[in-house]
Amino acid sequence: MGFLDDDWFMYRYNPTIPALLNRKNSVLPGDTNKWWRGLQPSKLRVNYTEVVDQLFSLFPDEDHYSDAGPDRCRTCAVVGNSGNLLRSNYGQLIDSHDLVIRINKGPTKGYEKDVGFKTTHRVLYPESAVDLDDNTHLVLFPFKIRDMQWLISTVTTRHITRTYTQVKSSIKANKNKVMILHPAFIKYAYEKWLQKNGKYPSTGFITLVFALHVCDQVNLFGFGATSNGTWHHYFDKSHTHYKGGPHKGDIENITMHQLEHRNKISIYKGY
Ligand code: C5P
Repeated sequence: MGFLDDDWFMYRYNPTIPALLNRKNSVLPGDTNKWWRGLQPSKLRVNYTEVVDQLFSLFPDEDHYSDAGPDRCRTCAVVGNSGNLLRSNYGQLIDSHDLVIRINKGPTKGYEKDVGFKTTHRVLYPESAVDLDDNTHLVLFPFKIRDMQWLISTVTTRHITRTYTQVKSSIKANKNKVMILHPAFIKYAYEKWLQKNGKYPSTGFITLVFALHVCDQVNLFGFGATSNGTWHHYFDKSHTHYKGGPHKGDIENITMHQLEHRNKISIYKGY
């Protein structure tokens, strides 16, 4: 991607921000810590350093995706959960990407023709957790420190059954494929890519920014309304709103379309 020729993009894009957490990059600058802790409902005094220590005694402590360079061409499909995937026939196209990143509960079973079979990565947090295949990377988005504690608990004591709501005490997932998004990356997506609109970015939007950092070509599926203007999941009928709440869906949308306009991503609108 020709990153260097675009002021709008360069103003937002920070190539040195760590995307995934490891022991070495885990120290949080004071302002990051303050912002991240501000997202959390509970002000319990949890020792972040101890939690990180425990995390990386259980899960891989690696410098993931630090191989960017002109010879790398990693293609990624970021698959949101919009109802516009139904009748899209995108299945094969989605599966043709090196990485297929799915989000939260979005299933493949029963929807293969439209969403594909393959899941290399699944982004989740305790409240949205589902069981994963052995070859899928779990990518935890830690909106709060409790989410990290939950991940630890799922493979050890299994004592965490509630956050602000009931959560699974364990899930099926390959321990050796677990990745944890860096808390500073959530702040970065908010400050740089949303220009501090809303309270914090939606999971789908953070996933898109994540893909901009670890992929060389990013194609977006399952984002936005259907062609007749309804907002729902492809796998259920509940309406999903992105205009109110903590997320500024309109700003996220404008930013996505700017990215497309600047040839940084492609958006597949579906049906
Ligand atoms: O609803 P959920 O948060 O699981 O969806 C994951 C992501 O998919 C959202 O964050 C959003 O970016 C995208 N989505 C969408 N339109 C919908 C449903 C989901 O853009 N109707």
